[in-house]
Amino acid sequence: MADVAFQPKHFLSDKVAHFTESVIREMTRQAMLYGAVNLAQGFPDFPAPAEIKRAAQEAVANDVNQYAITWGAKNLRNAIARQMKEWQGIPVDPETQITVCCGSTEAMISTLLAVCNAGDEVVIFEPFYENYGPDSVLSGAKPRFVKLRPPSDPEGEWTFDERELRSAFHDHTKAIILNTPNNPTGKVFTRAELELIRDLCLKFNVIAITDEIYEHILYDDTKHISIASLDGMGDRTVTINGLSKSYSVTGWRVGWAVGPPSVTGAIRKVHDFLTVGAPAPLQEAGAAALGLPNAYYENLAYGYRTRRDHLMPALTEAGFRCFRPRGAYYVMTDINAFGFSDDVTFTKYLVKEIGVAAVPGSSFYNDPKDGASQVRFAFCKREETLDEAGRRLLKLKK
Ligand SMILES: Cc1ncc(COP(=O)(O)O)c(C=O)c1O
Repeated sequence: MADVAFQPKHFLSDKVAHFTESVIREMTRQAMLYGAVNLAQGFPDFPAPAEIKRAAQEAVANDVNQYAITWGAKNLRNAIARQMKEWQGIPVDPETQITVCCGSTEAMISTLLAVCNAGDEVVIFEPFYENYGPDSVLSGAKPRFVKLRPPSDPEGEWTFDERELRSAFHDHTKAIILNTPNNPTGKVFTRAELELIRDLCLKFNVIAITDEIYEHILYDDTKHISIASLDGMGDRTVTINGLSKSYSVTGWRVGWAVGPPSVTGAIRKVHDFLTVGAPAPLQEAGAAALGLPNAYYENLAYGYRTRRDHLMPALTEAGFRCFRPRGAYYVMTDINAFGFSDDVTFTKYLVKEIGVAAVPGSSFYNDPKDGASQVRFAFCKREETLDEAGRRLLKLKK
């Protein structure tokens, strides 16, 4: 038999052709390359709470070093169920409704793989957290995007057009992915907006998959509402959350999906074959984390509000138009004033010449043109880091 010439593409799945590498993670690599202040990727540069680090150390010392139960250590599942009841009034059975995963990232892809068939559609608000599009494609579904539009007044709210949302739902719609508080816009969905989404889910028999990883990071008296707490949504919602943002431990890789027992059964199967389980000692530390007193969460939100109010004036001073976030820890900005051709050219200039890494807005949109005048900054950083970024950004004024 004659040898076949090596064709690199032959070995690649068509699926991966539909998406590129994460721009956010790429910006972090560039920040390291140029010695830039990294306001691109959303990870804190300050320590995690001492209590939970101690709990992790104790778990390792006590030899919690082997596989945990595939769908999550009992202590952590009990803590998650307790907190969902306390914070959102949602009753959860830890035995049949929770799957602990390697971060909320794995919880999201496991859920989509568990619920989607080829030909299904998934409604996604854009700008979106960049994993959702590839996650839908990997699960065989087709993403269908609905725009969140920035306010004309920077103090206002990002909104969506009700007609556009309604027309995104039809017979092939399997799921809607929600993210509230939202990355990258900082939008916190209101009860009225969630009720409209609920009504559409009921009408078109659609499941809501809701990423609530920024649940505790809220400003300006905004309240977080889980769509699972609305009438009719308990048995058609998967709520995703994790340790990363609430406890400043993005590298621990512990997250979870909470859903009705039938869907949870399917998520657990996918999760088992994907990763078997999340890190066992860090799940024990997670149980300790979820037991922190309410004052911890008040301080967390206060700390982020202070950082937001630190960074936004510096950005404005440098010439950005900022949209005030109501939750999460990012500021989306408009860069029109700088006269660059697009967001990617601008962020390349920013990281290399100014020494600050940010994320080009186009990475949050299906059509890059839609984000060409936007750039996102993360403010989950120490005050010194934000000050240094502010000083460097002033060079833009020259
Ligand atoms: C909206 C959103 N979901 C999920 C994640 C990732 O979470 P995890 O670390 O739990 O995988 C991020 C991280 O930035 C995020 O912004």
